[in-house]
Amino acid sequence: MKILVTGGCGFIGSHVVDAYAEKGYEVTVVDNLSTGKKENLNQKARLYITDIGSEEMKEIFYKEKPDVVNHHAAQISVPLSVKDALYDAEINIKGTIRLLELSREYAIQRFIFSSTGGAIYGEATEIPTEETYYPRPASPYAISKFAAEKYILFYHDYYRIPCVILRYSNVYGPRQIPHGEAGVVAIFTEKLLQEEHAMLYHFPEEPLGMIRDYCFVTDVAQANLMAAEKKLTGIFNIGTGSGTCTYDLYKTILNILREKGKALNESFDEPLRGIARPGDIHTSTLNVRKARDVLGWKALKNLKAGISETIMWYMKNET
Ligand SMILES: NC(=O)c1ccc[n+]([C@@H]2O[C@H](COP(=O)([O-])OP(=O)(O)OC[C@H]3O[C@@H](n4cnc5c(N)ncnc54)[C@H](O)[C@@H]3O)[C@@H](O)[C@H]2O)c1
Repeated sequence: MKILVTGGCGFIGSHVVDAYAEKGYEVTVVDNLSTGKKENLNQKARLYITDIGSEEMKEIFYKEKPDVVNHHAAQISVPLSVKDALYDAEINIKGTIRLLELSREYAIQRFIFSSTGGAIYGEATEIPTEETYYPRPASPYAISKFAAEKYILFYHDYYRIPCVILRYSNVYGPRQIPHGEAGVVAIFTEKLLQEEHAMLYHFPEEPLGMIRDYCFVTDVAQANLMAAEKKLTGIFNIGTGSGTCTYDLYKTILNILREKGKALNESFDEPLRGIARPGDIHTSTLNVRKARDVLGWKALKNLKAGISETIMWYMKNET
């Protein structure tokens, strides 16, 4: 199977590429390296450094003729999407449509899309939230992901392109970028490793912070493998089904760092505090029954083991 992965030099995309390459699939990556890094890329994959909106994409499809397109390239920051909604829409909506047009022209067999279960449902009244819950996106980023989903479903219905939409919860693990505005595990870990105080953003009435469903990146990569191999179409939540508040996450990271020998004095016992930013939501956890029953997927890594592996990676790879 020939698979084209957009964003394959990024955090999640690079793990997805690893999972495909390990199974012996021929993987081509398109990435403009805006947030991704060449060193993340699996050596077996072929890389084209370009934008998903570029003219070069036509040549890449012509040359590579992929069977499957796995679309991970995106503008991923919620605060940035609030600041510059047009830029977000340019990449996340128009970029996806351009890929769908090429996928139609080259009659690809499957289009896999990384959507967001963490943001798309907004402040859901059903927790954990099922796929059937009608999305109430609360930020331009979530709106652009929802719009992209709708275009993908249109191309499925109208042009018969099989598609799998994976709505991820909060993904964490090795290679996540701590400098960005997403990825609280990476941000806390890097701050504490550098012996700097980390900021916990929260709503005034909830001092323990927001509740999120943290899912380890290699589990997410396995979901992408199953999405490529199984002849399915549909939307699947990908997460653990359970929630952790930001304060407990901070404490878990702090304790594991100390267990691993990092000397952090008592001034680190409590994080700094900041008020929730525009686009933030209180609680997000995903009902993952459909992924288990239909896709045959389940998150395997528990939070402590995942955080421990992530910390080990950051300790080895200075960012
Ligand atoms: N990290 C999460 O918790 C999470 C949750 C839900 C959904 N997602 C989705 O998963 C995907 C990957 O996210 P990530 O956390 O790995 O982010 P990331 O920033 O590490 O990866 C994105 C990759 O896409 C590339 N890219 C961005 N814009 C591009 C463009 N216009 N053309 C070509 N390449 C481009 C970047 O260089 C990077 O390598 C995104 O679609 C994101 O919306 C992530």
